[in-house]
Amino acid sequence: MKTLIRIGTAAILATGLSLGGTAAQAAGGHGGPELKHPSWTFDGLFGHYNEDQLKRGWEVYSNVCASCHGLEYMHYRNLKGLGYTEDEVEAIAASFEIEDGPDEWGEMFTRPATVVDPIKEPYENDALAKLANGGAVPPNLSVMTRARDHGPDYVYSLMLGYEAGVPEWVHEEDPEFSVPPGKSFNNYFPGYAISMPQQLFPGIMEYSDGTEATPEQMAKDVVTFLQWAAEPELEKRKDLGRYVLVFLIVFTGVLYAYKREIWKNAH
Ligand code: HEC
Repeated sequence: MKTLIRIGTAAILATGLSLGGTAAQAAGGHGGPELKHPSWTFDGLFGHYNEDQLKRGWEVYSNVCASCHGLEYMHYRNLKGLGYTEDEVEAIAASFEIEDGPDEWGEMFTRPATVVDPIKEPYENDALAKLANGGAVPPNLSVMTRARDHGPDYVYSLMLGYEAGVPEWVHEEDPEFSVPPGKSFNNYFPGYAISMPQQLFPGIMEYSDGTEATPEQMAKDVVTFLQWAAEPELEKRKDLGRYVLVFLIVFTGVLYAYKREIWKNAH
């Protein structure tokens, strides 16, 4: 019986922890700045997405990132998950021209995208992507926040982690370090020399809801959007997690009462 109660308590702790999200933060592992850790709506036991923020994140993705990065597996209809109406999603899809065909004359043609089309990829193939980006292929972003350790914090820090010159701490680690031509210095990218130039500058875009588009705001919104793309079911998972947690607490309480009942005459 005691063992059962212990198992119950351990399960409660484990469920609580797994819902807790990215509480602990690993040190940067180098002499440079540690990962930034803004507050995320999707963190913790009551993690959720805010639809206004998801829409802003899509605006950042489509205005800034989409010219180089695709969102593999995502279709325009998935954007309904951000809180857009059917009509709005149709209008968003229709604003993109995609290639289709061949037609009856055997020719490829372009047409406006519809909701059932996959979100338009920026490059036809990796070779073209490489040519356009100094030899590096901009990776698919739809699962990026799960593909990297501390994904949301990492992508946020990466977007804000550019430096004009090479900081002193890098030269303390490696006096020979220099940024190769065509690359940029980034505090958080492994090896610090990244083929993606800095993207987020004040004033590069405007939000349709009037929010001021500071680099921090754009980074936070686009990461929230990418987290949603990687885990649209988060809210369902957390709902289930909370249900399991309450169940386990009640169950452990029942076991405890039961134990006392059985042992009450034994003392
Ligand atoms: C001009 C093209 C271009 C644009 C625009 C662009 N990126 Fe990139 N991005 C790249 C390239 C190229 C790489 C690969 C970098 C490398 O391997 O050195 C990359 C890599 C990345 C990575 C992966 C880093 C890693 O750890 O491997 C992330 C995350 C990323 N970009 C996010 C974004 C976001 C978010 C935006 C929009 C705000 C954006 N990018 C806009 C070209 C671009």
